[in-house]
Amino acid sequence: MNEYQTVKGGGNLQGTVSVPGDKSISHRSLILGSIAAGTTEISGFLYSEDPLSTASCLRKLGVKIPEIIKDKPFEIQGVGLEGLNEPKEILDCGNSGTTMRLMMGVLAGQRGKNFIMTGDKSLSERPMNRVCKPLRLMGGTLSGRENGNKAPIAIKGEQLKGCVIGTPVASAQVKSSILLAGLTASGSTSVIEPASSRDHTERMLKAFGANIEIRGELGRNVVVKSGNDLKGQEILIPGDISSASFWMIAGSIVPNSNITIKNVGLNPTRTGILEIMDVMGCNYKIFEESIVAGEPIGNINVKTANTLKPFTIQGDILPKLIDEIPILTVAACFCGGISYIKDAKELRVKETDRLKVMTRQLRKFGAIIDEREDGLVINGDGKFTGAEVDSETDHRVSMSLAIAAILAKGTSKIYRASASNVSYPNFWNDLELLL
Ligand code: S3P
Repeated sequence: MNEYQTVKGGGNLQGTVSVPGDKSISHRSLILGSIAAGTTEISGFLYSEDPLSTASCLRKLGVKIPEIIKDKPFEIQGVGLEGLNEPKEILDCGNSGTTMRLMMGVLAGQRGKNFIMTGDKSLSERPMNRVCKPLRLMGGTLSGRENGNKAPIAIKGEQLKGCVIGTPVASAQVKSSILLAGLTASGSTSVIEPASSRDHTERMLKAFGANIEIRGELGRNVVVKSGNDLKGQEILIPGDISSASFWMIAGSIVPNSNITIKNVGLNPTRTGILEIMDVMGCNYKIFEESIVAGEPIGNINVKTANTLKPFTIQGDILPKLIDEIPILTVAACFCGGISYIKDAKELRVKETDRLKVMTRQLRKFGAIIDEREDGLVINGDGKFTGAEVDSETDHRVSMSLAIAAILAKGTSKIYRASASNVSYPNFWNDLELLL
């Protein structure tokens, strides 16, 4: 708990940054590359703790993944859909929910092989029955603490059978886990979500040659049929909009700022923050838009806005900005008037309980913020004073508090600031570069 970063309030943010590769797409590139036949070439990979946990698990399962070097493209030789080995060691997913949940779907269908997955303190308290239950419906054998809800999770690979599954939460991790299990299940596997979550798995499965169909209102029903082998692909990973969001919000609020963020993924299942920035009245533009490896990308320029209006986040937009709630909470503190975040119970089961942690930490700066069972009520009076705050080990909290500290009068200390290494190892350097 001794490690911290000092941030001086004031200043302005100017310059150009390229945010690191998309975390969700980085995980999926390794997983699909590993279970495909042939070579997958990956560039733009996010060299950070979470995707590296996925790489380390896949290596233990016998996939030849070279040492990954930051900013250097690399190749994976896939082992095919049923080619993963039973590992001698426990699979350690670190802090990464995506690693654990997606890999559970892959491993549940590896017939006759056994696996144990574990994670750090935070991951070991996060709910896993949301994945264990549907996989059991497909014939999977999974167990864990608290009736399969908590890691360590033990999996005995089985011949799975396809079925129709309605998920109670709109979660891309749950959806993806079921779809990955569907690749080795008999027949077809259909997932129906209550609202559409990020669709990177579907896009990438299609590119790899899976038999996948998007149906239903707003694509909430995804069907995968087994029988097609996946074929290795070339994957170019765009920058992560969730990492860009810190600069998008800081650039909008910190006086006299002008930031350009290059090569940002703009998949419409991820751009809820832009819709909220429109309501706030932010001053941004998107340019040089293109499609790279099936994903829309573009550059974003953000300048300080004159006045910012309060906003309400609720309903179906939640999955489209689920990881941006911590930084949007900071934004709401500067949006003159009352902002509401509703329908956001999912935030309680992220790397930390982000509703509780953001309330606790932002109050130290003087924020007027109240916690509700499913959200937050924030009074945007915009008066922050430097404080000693703590990421509580959550990467997105650490980076949100850094932006809050710039907006405060005086100097702040952010303890456990290096939590940002989970998704954005260069964050503190980029901040220095922009200040
Ligand atoms: C992710 C999905 C989201 C998100 C997480 C990454 C993914 O989680 O919060 O950071 O890569 O599928 P849920 O799907 O559980 O909401």
